[in-house]
Amino acid sequence: HGTHPVLVASNRGPVSYTQDESGELTAKRGGGGLVSGLSAIGPDAGALWVCSALGDGDREAVRRGIGEEGVRMLDIDAGTHAAAYNGIANSTLWFVHHMLYQTPLEPVFDAEFRRRWAAYEAYNRAFAEALAEEAADGAAVLVQDYHLTLVPRMLRELRPDLRIGHFSHTPWAPVDYFRLLPDDIAAQVLDGILGADRAAFLTRRWADAFTACCRAVLGPDAAPDTKIGVHGLGADADFLRERSHRADVDERMAALREQIGTAPDGGARKAVVRVDRTELSKNIVRGLLAYRQLLEDRPEWHERVVHVAFAYPSRQDLAVYRDYTAEVQRVADEINSAFGTDGWTPVVLHVEDDFARSLASYRLADVALVNPIRDGMNLVAKEVPVVSDDGCVLVLSREAGAYEELGEDAVVVNPYDVVGTAEALHEALTVPLDERAERTKRLAAAATALPPAQWFLDQLHALRSA
Ligand code: G6P
Repeated sequence: HGTHPVLVASNRGPVSYTQDESGELTAKRGGGGLVSGLSAIGPDAGALWVCSALGDGDREAVRRGIGEEGVRMLDIDAGTHAAAYNGIANSTLWFVHHMLYQTPLEPVFDAEFRRRWAAYEAYNRAFAEALAEEAADGAAVLVQDYHLTLVPRMLRELRPDLRIGHFSHTPWAPVDYFRLLPDDIAAQVLDGILGADRAAFLTRRWADAFTACCRAVLGPDAAPDTKIGVHGLGADADFLRERSHRADVDERMAALREQIGTAPDGGARKAVVRVDRTELSKNIVRGLLAYRQLLEDRPEWHERVVHVAFAYPSRQDLAVYRDYTAEVQRVADEINSAFGTDGWTPVVLHVEDDFARSLASYRLADVALVNPIRDGMNLVAKEVPVVSDDGCVLVLSREAGAYEELGEDAVVVNPYDVVGTAEALHEALTVPLDERAERTKRLAAAATALPPAQWFLDQLHALRSA
């Protein structure tokens, strides 16, 4: 047995390496809830984070034995990793939970799919074996997300002494949709997670969907021993407030204000802001169409509003993601050529990742548009109210996990309804400033109720007392 009393496992780890031409490796630390959550205990307390080597830089770091204390990267064969990550995790399980298939033609679970599934099993097994090797007697192991659904069962078989938790950061599919998966694979995914002592989710809705799938697929008595938990990850207020007032963010705000410009009568223009990874579930195209509808229906907004849309690259190995990115660009260009004037660019679209610029846009947003088709939580909806300078109206999809906590003070939309979303944008743009400030205060309080460190510690305590 190993020495670590607490272990976290996820596909993407807290650090990644890039290699320059001379072969030198540079480490880059990632962000996100899990990274700040784990920092609540960290390597001093003997915690270990097990993750995949994701690119050539990471693989080279593993080969040279370079790494950070408290992190172990697994150098899984690149072909196996690609088949598991792109082929199963992102093209199958992600699609099922976010209900993204165009069902007349897909999914097709053919022999090639079965080969990828075998790679997904091998990739999960590599994690289970590494965790079994590193974990101290009775250690707590927190396994993250749809990449690693088979790990809890595999690990339980290798190490019955461990406390094992699984956390899903995505939605969970409703029964009828989940059952698109071949029956044996649907059962394997559920049974894999039920190998854990606790299976936890971001909202009650996703937890209930999971238990409904267990009953439908595995029978009414499946896994009476697995506890189901709900932990709604919140925004990290201290970090965000400090980070969003540094000089680089101030600079980005000045640049954005320049791009937004002022109305011909000298009046300020309103900013409708969105910030997303260019992810199929984020519904960026319908968001643009809704903005276009607003400009068509309400000419009084011409020259008086700008849609600031940041659509950062994501999963570009997958052709559907590349096509979607191109479609976002095309629709934005079309709106600008249909409505733009010499002094007014109706859509300001940026596609290069820039965290400081995202924070700048949160500070100056009049309206934040968060309209995903389906989303486990959506942290942008929680971050904007925390960072906002003068208050901001949140237009929020009822299909985002965040809706359960923020719905009351947001303008809520059905993400498929473009005309309804256009009306919601108009409503949001006309909320009086004092009411807007009040709502933003309440949203910020709800959004920060469970900061990442507490979110992580709550799970650890619940697992240890399970
Ligand atoms: C989002 C999801 C997580 C997922 C992550 C993976 O943040 O909410 O559930 O783990 O994407 O993204 P990646 O870029 O690693 O594919």
